[in-house]
Amino acid sequence: MTRPVVVPVVEIRAVGVVGGGQMGRGIAQVFAASGFTVVLADVNDDALSHAVKMIERDMQRRVDRGTLTAEDREQARANLTTTTDYAAFAESDLVIEAVTENEVLKNTIFRTLQPHIKATTILATNTSSISVTRLAAATDRPERFIGIHFMNPAPVMKLVEVTRGLPTDEPTFQAVAALAERIGKRLVASADTPAFIVNRILIPMINEAVYALYEGVGDILAIDSAMKLGANHPMGPFELADYIGLDTCLAVMRVLHEELGDSKYRPCPLLAKYVDANWLGKKSGRGFYDYAVTPARPTR
Ligand code: 3HC
Repeated sequence: MTRPVVVPVVEIRAVGVVGGGQMGRGIAQVFAASGFTVVLADVNDDALSHAVKMIERDMQRRVDRGTLTAEDREQARANLTTTTDYAAFAESDLVIEAVTENEVLKNTIFRTLQPHIKATTILATNTSSISVTRLAAATDRPERFIGIHFMNPAPVMKLVEVTRGLPTDEPTFQAVAALAERIGKRLVASADTPAFIVNRILIPMINEAVYALYEGVGDILAIDSAMKLGANHPMGPFELADYIGLDTCLAVMRVLHEELGDSKYRPCPLLAKYVDANWLGKKSGRGFYDYAVTPARPTR
């Protein structure tokens, strides 16, 4: 009789996050607030200081609202350090990459950090759309590679979408499932298909809103109001697109279009034009809305 092979599940205590942008810093905040030791890495010192400032600001807001104690805020802050050197990931049990949707960049990051991490460390990507199998295959540990996709804002949204690449092993999935529970998130497993579940549905909706604008069905305010009041969405599609980042929305549409080959996923030329203008949404100060004024003013 053959016995089932029992592979130990790694217990994750220390987490590394690559990328100090809005997703990376949100992910770092979630883990720090849940008692993990967190190292947040970026190539840019200014990006790291900005990330820490935003995390501190958000935690202060929570203290002011009474949803976080000052003591828990101090503890979370003490759990977090930043670095520009991947050597700081030496003790990390899990490293999550959360940089822009660029497969070459992601591969380079994994290749560069691999020599600094333990053999048992799980590598994860927060990609919104790129094949987890392909990213896994380019690393030195395809079986310990997984997609953990947080939603923006990570500290608020309850979901983590978890994707096994073809080579991902069961202990890796189980370790991540246990982790999701410890950070207070609900796990939904998605197949490794372009854009997974949420973005497969959400980003084409945003793209359709841009087509509606492009074709004159309504202006930005009309379309946003219609979807908030008529479909109970907390943000209209243009507010949400600006919040996610128009470059990310366009990158997801391009992956859907190229990999599924269906013309229904063609990115709206107006979305591409906004990205060409570097009007990327909230993070660049202007997207479908102009954030230089309060309240933000629609750009068309
Ligand atoms: N970061 C951290 N926390 C935030 C935040 C942020 N950027 N914005 C709001 N919050 C927190 C507040 O601190 C507050 O926390 P508290 O209850 O503990 O005090 C709570 O969220 C509610 O805040 P507000 O009352 O100020 O804000 P709203 O009620 O207007 O809600 C929202 C804000 C949660 C962002 C809401 O508008 C929303 O759910 N929008 C839709 C978000 C969405 O669809 N996200 C998914 C995008 S798709 C994605 O991320 C995938 C990617 O791959 C593209």
